[in-house]
Amino acid sequence: MKKFPDNFLWGAAASAPQTEGHGSTDGKSPTTWDKWFEMAPEKFFNQIGPEDTSDVYDLYQEDVNRMKEIGMNSYRTSISWARLLPDGETLNPEAVDFYRSYFQCLLDNGIEPIMNLFHFDMPWWLMKKGGWETRESVSAFGFYAKTVFEEFGDLVHRWSTFNEPLVHIEAAYLQEFHYPAIHDIKKAVQVGYHTLLAHFEAVKAFRESGKIGEIGIILNVTPAYARSNSDEDLQAKEYADLIAIKSFIDPCVLGEIPSKLIDLTKAAGLTPQTQEGDKALIKEYPVDFLGLNYYQPMRVQAPSNPNYPITSLEDLFEPYIWPERRMNPYRGWEIYPKALYDMAMLIKNEYRNIPWYVSENGMGVEGEEKFIKDGMVQDDYRIEFMEEHLAELHRGITEGSNCFGYHTWTFVDCWSWLNAYKNRYGFYRVDLENNFARSLKKSGLWFKELTENNGF
Ligand code: BG6
Repeated sequence: MKKFPDNFLWGAAASAPQTEGHGSTDGKSPTTWDKWFEMAPEKFFNQIGPEDTSDVYDLYQEDVNRMKEIGMNSYRTSISWARLLPDGETLNPEAVDFYRSYFQCLLDNGIEPIMNLFHFDMPWWLMKKGGWETRESVSAFGFYAKTVFEEFGDLVHRWSTFNEPLVHIEAAYLQEFHYPAIHDIKKAVQVGYHTLLAHFEAVKAFRESGKIGEIGIILNVTPAYARSNSDEDLQAKEYADLIAIKSFIDPCVLGEIPSKLIDLTKAAGLTPQTQEGDKALIKEYPVDFLGLNYYQPMRVQAPSNPNYPITSLEDLFEPYIWPERRMNPYRGWEIYPKALYDMAMLIKNEYRNIPWYVSENGMGVEGEEKFIKDGMVQDDYRIEFMEEHLAELHRGITEGSNCFGYHTWTFVDCWSWLNAYKNRYGFYRVDLENNFARSLKKSGLWFKELTENNGF
């Protein structure tokens, strides 16, 4: 049996906009998701928008009982900025009541709430001013964070600032699956820089609040593996890790933006606008822990036709299909559990063995109803996926990596941005035809056993 350390966190993650429902009621103001759905519902899978999420706003007590049933001792979700401060300044008392009761309910059931501040849900009032493109977003986020710690700092003792900041930068400014869905690398860099500073403003607000607890950041990691050991392919790997891993981990843990990243943006004329004091802010407020979301690795090779100075990320590395890869055919992502061990070692060896946890790992499957037998989704594929990943994580912990938990994505199937309810990830199935009714999947039973044994 592979035993995990005492007090290991077993749980799952989700986010406010993906689960709460009541997207336009109870005092909440719109986010980019609400507005984008209004503008272009056809972009969303089966035209299901953010108003219709799993209704946790009403069902949280029942859901917390379900968490307890399968032995979860911790749960991460997020607070909705647009619900708490609908105009960025005025506190919404209904939101305070909702979150306080929700967090208290988790605590009463022995489930530690880990609360995140931003999960892709930019308030519309701020987006109208440019969102993360404007420097104003940094102080606005600092004010929001300060308010959160004042209102909930007695109930929550583990915080994170952002979920996967690289995703909202890339998806909105280099690709087209988050609003404003444009291609503008200069803006992407500026948005990245402001996001990073907003993270530091929130950490600063937490330290100044004097509240008890810890604060970190949740980063998506896609460790890069090179096609070959040629200098060119290894250089491509180095660039991929610089952008996808070091860009945020280095400043958040080591207090500095990597000099290679600064040089690269400078050479390309992409240096963001900065202000005096930024560097000191980054230096002064390291995180207490990291959350790492891991789903798939990145396979890279040297770019075939690069521009210098660069005009896009394709000038640094190109994707490569590893002939031996194993795929999740539904989601189209490679399954490569060993990367979790590699990440564990990277954190141990290069990031002063800072405490960290797996904050998301999971397997999205489309059309899961075809696996229902005797009223239960028989998701053996998910159990196998998680066991393989846990085995690699266990190896990393045995070799000294300071990992304190494993959270899956997710607990109850949830709405996922443009994909809406396409890919299912939960331990409980959500029935859209039947008022979001929940039913346990086989993986939920497996998870219960895992948590009871603190291992498998
Ligand atoms: C994670 C995000 O990376 O992936 C979640 O933090 C998202 O917000 C999840 O829902 C699954 O994504 P998808 O596209 O497979 O539904």
